[in-house]
Amino acid sequence: IALGIVFGGCSSEYEVSLSSAAAVIDHLDRDRFELILIGITREGHWRRYYGESELIREDSWTSHPGCVPAVLSASRDKKGLVEFVGTEFRLTPLDVVFPVLHGRNGEDGTLQGLLELSGIPFVGCGMLSSALCMDKAYAKTIASAAGIEVPPFVTVLGRDTIEDAFRMADKLGYPLYVKPARAGSSIGIAKAYDEEELASGIEQALLHDDKLVIERHVNGIELGCAVLGDADPFIGEIDEIELTGEFFDFEQKYTLSASTIHLPSRIDEETAARAKAMALGVYRALGCSGFARVDLFLTEDGRLMFNEVNTIPGFTAHSRYPNMMRHAGITFTVLLDRLIVSALK
Ligand code: DAL
Ligand code: MG
Repeated sequence: IALGIVFGGCSSEYEVSLSSAAAVIDHLDRDRFELILIGITREGHWRRYYGESELIREDSWTSHPGCVPAVLSASRDKKGLVEFVGTEFRLTPLDVVFPVLHGRNGEDGTLQGLLELSGIPFVGCGMLSSALCMDKAYAKTIASAAGIEVPPFVTVLGRDTIEDAFRMADKLGYPLYVKPARAGSSIGIAKAYDEEELASGIEQALLHDDKLVIERHVNGIELGCAVLGDADPFIGEIDEIELTGEFFDFEQKYTLSASTIHLPSRIDEETAARAKAMALGVYRALGCSGFARVDLFLTEDGRLMFNEVNTIPGFTAHSRYPNMMRHAGITFTVLLDRLIVSALK
């Protein structure tokens, strides 16, 4: 099976993608898959990459001699990767693609749209579902229309005035979070206890997106649900994030210095069953397919609320999704196999 692995990308989560992709490459069954590595630089240049996964992990892959300009052909009669070799070009057919990209320009439906246009099967959610899940405002609106509870939130656009934002925030009440609507790994997210912090949070978040979500803080914990499959999805062991710091920010996500991930989570069976049902409801409402990690809040008084969906969750060997599956008896290698084979169906 000719498997294209896409990594990197024009996204604030470029480095996370490199770690995820290197782990995916290292855990794939090489007897089953012929790997065609497709790197996208931070600037958006596409390359076919012939080097080792270690150089991807270290972000030195672009200096490798086996890093050749390439583009994806969206033409139905020339499906695959086109490499430029001198004045010639060479087409490598692709049976299936696994986009191991996080955030904008990769997890947000753009690449998925290109792959749909080209007719190349790919792992994970389709164009529309990816786009909806990437946008925290649309994801919450749709989940809530499907009867799923979400924390009170408002959408603020770059053209709104700070007074508009203050007025909306007053209605929600403090503390609250300011989030770029379309980013991941908590990049650009700030917690605000008053108008001053809100104003600086908005300024920071606007560096990442001109659309923001302002959301009421929920007292409680975060639960993660790893969903796998299409018709009758399987949900792995639920994990739980215990925080001692203010929130699960970028540094926490990748160092865990002031937070602990409990796997399995410490919730009781009844709550776990409700969480799984809610995760499945969100997955269906947002049209997900293949896989996704659905993040929920469990409030102090036992209510579950939807937080967000990651349609291409972190996939390093230590990441939450592969860990949740491993605890449910599915190894990383088997997980990758299942994802890729189901994309081919
Ligand atoms: N956005 C990061 C990669 C995650 O959700 O795991
Ligand atoms: Mg995310």
